[in-house]
Amino acid sequence: MLGVCYYPEHWPETMWAHDAQRMKELGLTYVRIGEFAWARIEKSEGRFTWEWMDRAIETLGAAGLKVVLGTPTATPPKWLCEKYPDILPVDIHSGLTRGFGSRRHYDFSSETYLVQAERITAAMAERYGSNPHVAGWQTDNELCCHDTTLSASPAARAKFRAWCAARYGNIEALNAAWGNVFWSMEYDSFDQIDLPFFTVCETNPAHRLAYRRFASEQVVRFHDVMIAAIRRHSRPGQWITHNIIPPATTGVDNAALTRQLDFVSYDNYPLGFSDQLMAKAPADEWQPFMRTGHPDLAALNFDSVRGLSNGAWWGMEQQPGPVNWAPHNPRPAPGMVRHWTLQAFAHGAACVAYFRWRQVPFAQEQMHAGLLRPDDVPSPAWAEVEQVAAEMALLGDLSTVPEKAPVALVIDPVSAWVDDIERQGAGYRYPAVVFQYYRALRSLGVDVDLVSAGEAKLDGYRLIVAPCLAMPDEATVNALKASNGMIVFGPRSGAKTQEFSISAGLPPGPLREFVPIKAIAVETLRPDCDEPLSYQGEVHGSGKWRETIEVGECCVLAVYEDGSPAAVRSGRSIYIATLTDDAFLKSLLLNLCAEANIAITPLPDAVRLRRRGDLTFAFNLSGEVVHAPAPQAASFVIGSADIEPYGVAVWR
Ligand code: GAL
Repeated sequence: MLGVCYYPEHWPETMWAHDAQRMKELGLTYVRIGEFAWARIEKSEGRFTWEWMDRAIETLGAAGLKVVLGTPTATPPKWLCEKYPDILPVDIHSGLTRGFGSRRHYDFSSETYLVQAERITAAMAERYGSNPHVAGWQTDNELCCHDTTLSASPAARAKFRAWCAARYGNIEALNAAWGNVFWSMEYDSFDQIDLPFFTVCETNPAHRLAYRRFASEQVVRFHDVMIAAIRRHSRPGQWITHNIIPPATTGVDNAALTRQLDFVSYDNYPLGFSDQLMAKAPADEWQPFMRTGHPDLAALNFDSVRGLSNGAWWGMEQQPGPVNWAPHNPRPAPGMVRHWTLQAFAHGAACVAYFRWRQVPFAQEQMHAGLLRPDDVPSPAWAEVEQVAAEMALLGDLSTVPEKAPVALVIDPVSAWVDDIERQGAGYRYPAVVFQYYRALRSLGVDVDLVSAGEAKLDGYRLIVAPCLAMPDEATVNALKASNGMIVFGPRSGAKTQEFSISAGLPPGPLREFVPIKAIAVETLRPDCDEPLSYQGEVHGSGKWRETIEVGECCVLAVYEDGSPAAVRSGRSIYIATLTDDAFLKSLLLNLCAEANIAITPLPDAVRLRRRGDLTFAFNLSGEVVHAPAPQAASFVIGSADIEPYGVAVWR
């Protein structure tokens, strides 16, 4: 099923019915509206102007479309900011208030905003909770986007003090847990604790971690209050979703954030995200994917959202052409809008909605493409959506729960926080480490589930890959113990205690029961200064992060240039003590897949595979025809064994 994001308030009402009819004719089912419309819904506190929205919903519904209603809390209007200035967040770098004039200008710790946001959310749910055209709800919009998880507001400080008091009980316990004897940082009372900003040099990492945990909980609490407000008024059957930002980069624990939702949604901007990711890559690596996006980036995010979702997830916003917010904004290669849509379905989506219906000629996003140009003429994406809408029928029911993959990749927001807080080497970035392991698996043609540490149910996976579990908690260790697949730990795993000290008995602390080793030293290197590592007679690069390990009863798999162990194995568990080049990871994971009986299909860079039910999807990200790695008996549902440039083949 397909949909689109629409802003009736941006266009004269005389255009709505025609727009709705064209959406229907294009083959769309869902229209998301409303998520930034607060100022048009409520003119001043309690003075509601619902009538236009009533008519918009009626017009869309009358055309046979289903409405996804966004609650407008991402954009508190000017009158609200003036009346309640304490809702505004404070920038953690400058200490300045982040003011009105864009979006997301609210503080998750503000009780005033919580009340106001709950009030508008409940009012909207009361008005439309039994509207037959409203199929479901989107809460807010991309919570935490634009670096809004952390705020240095007075409200955040007061709440953080209370949070510390509740967590540690007495100030001596906090001093001991954080190691505040260092640099004379001991406190006499919780009221003396400030937020970990605006100091001469670095603050205590334990202090910063506590603040990260607190801030994530503030976001979750805010969101849960909004969900509850909708549930109080919505009729049974109206679902609630949120378009999250995956995985582990916004400072919120996405598993906790999404727990109360019916399913999870994601906004897919492959070119924008790839441009950000590969900003420093040399042109010859980047250019082939400039108009397709990196072959594995959208897939990583899709798999991450599927891992968080109860069953099939939604693509709530799909890039239809150039965006306006990345460092460079090329147009997609011809066919890529269809390609990304089918890719989302292959990775478990139930619906893909395009952002946006028509390019808007004014304000911040005027350079962002839509399905229609500002002059109402179809943009190049239009014909691709027409094509994919016709193809949907060939794919069968995609609302079903996607099957389990053979491999689990464990992701962990806390490891991302540890990396942000303790930047021991500029070459180590947690998201990049996760991405490297994911790429290696995907280049072997293997389907991967992303599971969140702590939440993880790992039984049934034949291979479990944890690129980093910097601070594994009891739940994660227990889930690993209860699993029965082979386990791969990346470097820095088990590095820290829950209070950000070096693990007892040295890293990997609690993971020593899987691999009896001790990381006795850590060094970090410049990314362009690789040193050799040998594995099965081949020399590979090892750099950025290198641990020297003392090993107990282990089998040494790979060694550094001086013969000391770089990767070891004990029973079903493997520990890799360094970041390596891609070739090493591929080679090791290929061997482990073979041992775990996981079928692999090594793929060229521009080809990717993904199975859903009895369908196999093959994606060609190159401008050349490529041959699909399909078995002889394949019966093609879409395309053929020769996949056209930027095309897709699907077979049973
Ligand atoms: C998304 C956001 C949309 C729009 C879009 C532009 O992140 O949810 O409101 O700004 O980006 O690409």
